[in-house]
Amino acid sequence: MSDADRIRSDAARFDDLQAETRVHRRNHRCDAYTFEDGAGLLALVRREGAARILELGTAIGYTAAVLASATPTTRVDTIERDPDHVALARANMVDAGVADRVTVHAGDFATVLPQLDGPFDLVFFDGLGPTRTMIDRLRELLAPGGLLVCGNLSLAAGDERRHLEDAFADRDLWQAAGSIENGATRAFRKIGTTQGQTTMEDMMTDDEQQIRALKDEWRAAVQSGDLDRTMATYFPGSEYLGFDVMPPFIFEGWDAFRDNWEKFFAMFDENPRFEFHDVRVHQAGDVAFSTGLTRFSGKVAGKDVDLWTRETLGYRKQDGRWLIIHDHVSVPIDLETGQGVRDYKP
Ligand SMILES: C[S@@+](CC[C@H](N)C(=O)[O-])C[C@H]1O[C@@H](n2cnc3c(N)ncnc32)[C@H](O)[C@@H]1O
Repeated sequence: MSDADRIRSDAARFDDLQAETRVHRRNHRCDAYTFEDGAGLLALVRREGAARILELGTAIGYTAAVLASATPTTRVDTIERDPDHVALARANMVDAGVADRVTVHAGDFATVLPQLDGPFDLVFFDGLGPTRTMIDRLRELLAPGGLLVCGNLSLAAGDERRHLEDAFADRDLWQAAGSIENGATRAFRKIGTTQGQTTMEDMMTDDEQQIRALKDEWRAAVQSGDLDRTMATYFPGSEYLGFDVMPPFIFEGWDAFRDNWEKFFAMFDENPRFEFHDVRVHQAGDVAFSTGLTRFSGKVAGKDVDLWTRETLGYRKQDGRWLIIHDHVSVPIDLETGQGVRDYKP
């Protein structure tokens, strides 16, 4: 049996409890929306080797049981405010044979969290709509290098969502560490900055650090409106290929792209600003790519521009130096109108 099959079969032991949660929610008309990707969660916990786990949002115990099943000694603290859920979850932990390792805390997250002592190796947030204040507190409870698995980010509305994305984009606080549940639940690794703790740099390879530094250099060059400095971040010659958000469809070669940058700088009344969000870097040998969301803003012909784009960059290492050899910048298309979707706000 492959590792993936084993994980799927281990998680499937709790399928009945997951089904029971769905029935419970319909009858109880409550918020016990069960987590959809138990196998993904179990794989994450096993990969981390997490011994001590905190969960927010027990419902009737499905994911608490999954988490506790990661190893025979994994301990879980889980928090739930609905008294009916607490009673059912405690009974379900007995049925699942994990009651000695799972503590169901009754009460609101805000009242229970201050009573808990860290550090936890992994925190799973499955409440309704995380907040920045909550995530900051969870970070305190995590061990350096520990993993926050955050569900229901889409339920955080407006400014709260922006504050959260700002926190997760802060490279002194978190490093993006993938996602489960088809991308609906995202994982972030805690970066420690004080002495003796794991730092972002400790956790990155030299190549990843150089690629992120190249992106920072690109931003500094563009924001200062320096065409030559900007072009020095691109792979010289004919191999460069650009799929920019602006026409034409394709830019072939460094020279063609330089012309584009010249026009781009000329359009702006003042130098544009760029923010990078959720940047992930993948590298093997002398080739790498990064993904992320980029917000760019500024003033064009007296009008404010504020646009979020999706960005995939390709990199090649030449003579020991990483350079951008491809970019693909896009916004989604509304198929009914044929127009680009330009009002995305995470
Ligand atoms: C999405 S469900 C959790 C599902 C569960 N993890 C599972 O997969 O079966 C969210 C649960 O969080 C509880 N909850 C929401 N906000 C809470 C809060 N502020 N304090 C404590 N519990 C809360 C709800 O009562 C609900 O049972």
